[in-house]
Amino acid sequence: MNPANLSRRTLLTSAAGLAVAPWFLRGASASAASKEPFTLPKLPWPEDALAPLMSHETIQYHYGKHHAAYVANLNKLVPASEFEGLSLEQIVRKAKLDTPIFNNAAQVWNHTFFWHCLSPKGGGRPEGKLAKAIDENFGSFAKFQEQFTDTAVKLFGSGWAWLVQGQDGRLTIEGMPNAHTPIKDGRTPLLTCDVWEHAYYIDYRNARPKFVEAFWKLVNWRTPADRLA
Ligand SMILES: [Fe+2]
Repeated sequence: MNPANLSRRTLLTSAAGLAVAPWFLRGASASAASKEPFTLPKLPWPEDALAPLMSHETIQYHYGKHHAAYVANLNKLVPASEFEGLSLEQIVRKAKLDTPIFNNAAQVWNHTFFWHCLSPKGGGRPEGKLAKAIDENFGSFAKFQEQFTDTAVKLFGSGWAWLVQGQDGRLTIEGMPNAHTPIKDGRTPLLTCDVWEHAYYIDYRNARPKFVEAFWKLVNWRTPADRLA
């Protein structure tokens, strides 16, 4: 089955109604075949594919060092804890906010999702149902983009800008600090931009607005379109 054709419900539940890993988290879930509870998921594109907007060196550090470190940390924290045997998403939901296990599990989830929000063929504007939902919730694509950019640029310190679909179907833009993530309270992230300094310092130094400009040129609209309920 082509993952792009899966609905959000199919992504989140199996035929038996049991929680299963969304397609973008394959490889990030507990695996009986591996001695480690979690593995670093493969990137959806080659490490140099987003250059020059996000350089090969940035991805080598951001994915190969930072994302990998969250996975390694999680693998030290999970064995013999109350979280052993849980999926990544279950750990994020169960763990207390801002504890080491929450921080590492949420950062693994958030980064895996972030990579799927980017594409070397990205940019432009959303189409179809997603474009209509953005117009209905924000007035226009321009207003949505302005609000998301403002949230990403002004978020103090480290964190994430999110486009979220709530359980009532409404779309909102939220800035969240540190590793905080909409999956914590069962909402659906549609799109995210990582605004931790490690995401942009190599390419843009302290100029976060330039990084957010680059983000818009790389956005993979297929991810939010596939996840919109
Ligand atoms: Fe990051």
